[in-house]
Amino acid sequence: MDKIIVKGGHPLQGEVVVSGAKNAALPILASALLADGKSVYRNVPDLADVVTMLKVLETMGCGTARLTGRNKDICEVAIEGPITPEAPYDLVKTMRASVLVLGPLVARFGRARVSMPGGCAIGARPIDQHLKGLKALGAEITLTEGYVEARAKQLKGATVNFDVITVTGTENVMMAAVLAKGRTVLENCAREPEVEELARVLNKMGARIQGAGTSVMTIEGVDSLKPVDHAILPDRIEAGTLMVAAAITGGNVLVKHAQPEHLESVILKLRETGCTITAEEKGLRVKAPKVVNSVDVKTTEHPGFPTDMQAQLMGLMTVASGTSVISESIFENRFMHVPELHRMGADITIQGHTAVVKGVKKLSGAPVMATDLRASASLVLAGLRAEGKTEVARIYHLDRGYERLERKLRKLGADIRRVKA
Ligand code: EPZ
Repeated sequence: MDKIIVKGGHPLQGEVVVSGAKNAALPILASALLADGKSVYRNVPDLADVVTMLKVLETMGCGTARLTGRNKDICEVAIEGPITPEAPYDLVKTMRASVLVLGPLVARFGRARVSMPGGCAIGARPIDQHLKGLKALGAEITLTEGYVEARAKQLKGATVNFDVITVTGTENVMMAAVLAKGRTVLENCAREPEVEELARVLNKMGARIQGAGTSVMTIEGVDSLKPVDHAILPDRIEAGTLMVAAAITGGNVLVKHAQPEHLESVILKLRETGCTITAEEKGLRVKAPKVVNSVDVKTTEHPGFPTDMQAQLMGLMTVASGTSVISESIFENRFMHVPELHRMGADITIQGHTAVVKGVKKLSGAPVMATDLRASASLVLAGLRAEGKTEVARIYHLDRGYERLERKLRKLGADIRRVKA
């Protein structure tokens, strides 16, 4: 298993390009199932999770290709032959977002057999709301041997009020409703930019969705959709992570393609820490003070502060000037970076879903272990600041959601490299 070795103390300078958004690419690739023919997706990040989603589609009988060379950001998904509407356990267990094929399969092929994703490091992450929505549209759902089986001759429009705001739950039901007969109203929807991006793609394919990005969506079902050619929006969480990299090293970095309208809560929070953040033509420039102020944060659904940025902000707060209170309200177990940050000298006390972070003068490099995607990013960020050498092990977690992060940071002046273990 590869490791990342980083030696801290180098303020990052220069400019860095944000890749396409993982959490938009995954539902959008699944949406290819909704139309016959070949869909072309551009600015698709080269991530382990994208590879897994392409594998899931291939297993079903889709033709998939990632182009190479100058076009290596382009993926193609073709529905040209018979499709076996099944997603096997061995793939779904490696990436729970595979469950996003459920809605398209039952809408398009009348049946689906998808492995239950099971829990993951950060929480139980049930899919009850996904199933509630599909049932409301008329799907018959059975759970057998760890698989969800969904059947429906023809889905019918309905009103679905989500009991919990769920990003992929909203996306799954959207992708089912676009081919249902009649009108569907989704209430208490997720409002993330990636949900809006999925709606943009589905509407380009011929769907009739209104209200994406708000908590109520109206979907007029259509008989069929056509394939699409679409460029994926930039990854706001990678952008936020790179902004924190500038902040934690006292640097000055232009994060190219970062979209301020998708990062408002992160921008405001980093400004509270004393960073100067300005929108330039090509992206967001972050100028950091030598020592940042401590700030409090509570993660909430979009447009609140994203849970996917909690670990990264905590990394920054470990070297801030005061005490910061960080509350994680979305997932029940998303503080696994804390014991690893302790190994680097951080002063953090966990009280239930809240972490109290007392800023320390310095962190010391140490061997640490990644436990989940955003925790691993937090450890790399702490290593950029720590005195001495930090070795981050199990960085396959990092590769799920960041495209060659160490190369991007090295280009900004970090002393960081990947070691093949
Ligand atoms: C999406 O996960 C993202 N993944 C996650 O990003 C992100 O952390 C999360 O949304 C929250 O923003 C993708 O988009 C592929 P949820 P998702 O359903 O959809 C509960 C990353 O780091 N819930 O919005 O699985 C659930 O337990 C990843 O890039 C139910 O109770 O998250 C959680 O507490 C991690 N029943 C809360 O809702 C359901 O049916 C939010 O989960 C569904 C969810």
